[in-house]
Amino acid sequence: MLAARQILHENFDKSPWLLRRHNERNVFYQLMVRAGDPFDRILGRLAEHGVEAVDLNFACDAPEIRACLAGSALFNNIDAFGSVAEQCRRNWSGVLTAKVRLGDETPDWQKRFAERVRVLEDSGIDALIVHTRFFREKFKRRARHEFIPWIAANTRLPIIANGDIGGPEDVAAMADNLRPACAIMIGRHAIVRPWLFAAWDSTFQIDHGAVWHRMCEYIEEDFPPEVAFRRIQMFTKYFAANYAFGHSLRTAVSNARSIAEIRERATAFFAARSTVVTRPLVAGV
Ligand SMILES: Cc1cc2nc3c(=O)[nH]c(=O)nc-3n(C[C@H](O)[C@H](O)[C@H](O)COP(=O)(O)O)c2cc1C
Repeated sequence: MLAARQILHENFDKSPWLLRRHNERNVFYQLMVRAGDPFDRILGRLAEHGVEAVDLNFACDAPEIRACLAGSALFNNIDAFGSVAEQCRRNWSGVLTAKVRLGDETPDWQKRFAERVRVLEDSGIDALIVHTRFFREKFKRRARHEFIPWIAANTRLPIIANGDIGGPEDVAAMADNLRPACAIMIGRHAIVRPWLFAAWDSTFQIDHGAVWHRMCEYIEEDFPPEVAFRRIQMFTKYFAANYAFGHSLRTAVSNARSIAEIRERATAFFAARSTVVTRPLVAGV
């Protein structure tokens, strides 16, 4: 998620937030938008740099995002929400999506949700991504995909379902609820298993250690050392879910004092050939 206003000040050739690798295609640039943002200039700049697709984040409920009147705070202010969506559509001819949650868990949440979907539909966005949890649930309980058929039946927008989907087995298990969606979005499981999409229809041997090292190389290429250090620790926290005893990898890496030490400890862990689980469990942030 990129702070929309900040786009005006970033260097597209250098900023780790905006750079993309030559082999990356169809990258969505997701924006943290606020009422009053200069959308003509922000979206104009993205277009100048060849961006094809933009997503508007109305789903984030983090306190610092709410404090900017963005994310869930903007979702809850229907006038500002509609105005932002309409201005973005007016200034962006590429693919435009919006990401939402179910809203606040009030007795009339379905009415409030349906009103907002209608506003988005009227604005002319191309598709709607729904993380089927309420804002205050954070990552607790399970995603409520049983509402996807109701959402899809009440809008002509294509629906992209998100939340707790970890692979083809999950899609098969939730097929009845997911069928009315046009696509799925995967978050945490794609961090735990970055090969997830490549291996969707086939099985292939994964060299977990090689994947981990490559990810660290990418992070180190993109970020200054102190930022890279923390991002590698965060990635490893998720990646460790691949292992039955992943906590030892997680702990070893979170107690390391430098990237070199992280690499040394992770290399030792991978050399021990720890048991890999077939269904990693992911936690929240
Ligand atoms: C560490 C972390 C960072 C996230 N950052 C974003 C973000 O920048 N934009 C966004 O739309 N969702 C973000 N999410 C939420 C995910 O995109 C997704 O909606 C949520 O994790 C549920 O899907 P999943 O079960 O497939 O992970 C983040 C989640 C986590 C755990």
